[in-house]
Amino acid sequence: MQHPWPDDLLAIPHRRDVPFSRLTTLGVGGVCRWLFEPETEAQAAAFVKACAREGLPWRVLGGGSNLVVLGDVDIPVVRLKLPREVVRRGLEVSAPASFGHIRLSTEVAAMGLSGLEYASGIPGSVGGALHMNAGAYGREMVDVLARFRFLTPAGDLVEKSPEPGEFSYRWSFLGDRHLALGLVVRLVEGDPARINALVEEYRGRRGTSQPLDRRNAGCIFKNPTGQSAGRLIDQAGLKGFRVGQAEVSPEHGNFLVNLGGATATEFRDLMTLVREKVREIHGIDLQPEVEIW
Ligand code: FAD
Ligand code: EPU
Repeated sequence: MQHPWPDDLLAIPHRRDVPFSRLTTLGVGGVCRWLFEPETEAQAAAFVKACAREGLPWRVLGGGSNLVVLGDVDIPVVRLKLPREVVRRGLEVSAPASFGHIRLSTEVAAMGLSGLEYASGIPGSVGGALHMNAGAYGREMVDVLARFRFLTPAGDLVEKSPEPGEFSYRWSFLGDRHLALGLVVRLVEGDPARINALVEEYRGRRGTSQPLDRRNAGCIFKNPTGQSAGRLIDQAGLKGFRVGQAEVSPEHGNFLVNLGGATATEFRDLMTLVREKVREIHGIDLQPEVEIW
């Protein structure tokens, strides 16, 4: 059968027709027609360069923990599968972008390094965490970020330290067309007992406030400045509201959960409804935190 992609793209390890229900934590969406899984930085660069040369749009998928996929995706999707290796040099630890964020938090804690305890309950990859500038409990990725490596839209490798204006609340300049390859976090020496106590405290707080027993994508909307989207949704009386099998969590208003077999359309409709209701009651237009594909 004739395929649409050039041979150098097809030389990169890839899979066909993978359902997004298996690629995302929310568990909805259509099919990922072309999932490219580079195992080396050279393959990742070859992917971006081939797409740039052909003028092909593409997307990058990490752990799929901040994504609502609405249908099939026909353009190439890249998900890095780099060697799972963290390297410590003094107070700095490097990790590839495909490394698990929670695992990195656990590994640096085991090294007696403090600073990433806040990430102990944030799923997904460190690349996704960099793109999202993920955070919790008053800290975020940029606070511990020493350097990061990424490919520009043309496929050129850049390594740099973060600069003012490049990261803000749940946002980074990486946008749609920069592929993060890895990062280095800078931490401080810590007392292992205190590090573990902080991790346990954060896990406990999450366990009591977030619906971790249902498939979800974390908080759906960003917090408006000085406000909590969860509280606004709660005060609008929306907790427990359902569209099909998609539900506003009774535990946390900003978590929409999949009760089992929910569809992407149900989540899209539930998000629209929540936004409209919050606008009507509070006069605030909530902005999605999740990426919508
Ligand atoms: P994905 O969901 O795969 O992708 C998210 C975005 O990042 C997409 O735009 C994607 O293109 C981009 N991206 C992914 N990898 C790369 C890469 N290598 N280079 C460039 N761009 C890339 N988030 C928080 O901030 N704080 C929390 O406390 C938190 N708690 C959560 C709790 C639960 C139970 C869940 C399910 C989610 C939670 N989240 C939280 C949301 C989510 O875990 C984070 O946003 C996470 O950092 C996303 O990483 P990911 O690898 O899953 O990214
Ligand atoms: N609240 C309610 N009702 C609710 C939910 C929350 O009244 O249904 C109240 C809480 O009682 C609390 C306040 O709102 O007084 C804030 O709630 P919470 O501590 O749960 O924090 P949040 O603002 O809802 C943010 C992040 C989370 C992160 C936590 C912990 C955003 C959008 N959310 O949630 O990040 O884990 O703080 O730091 O910034 C995510 O980004 O996906 C995410 C889960």
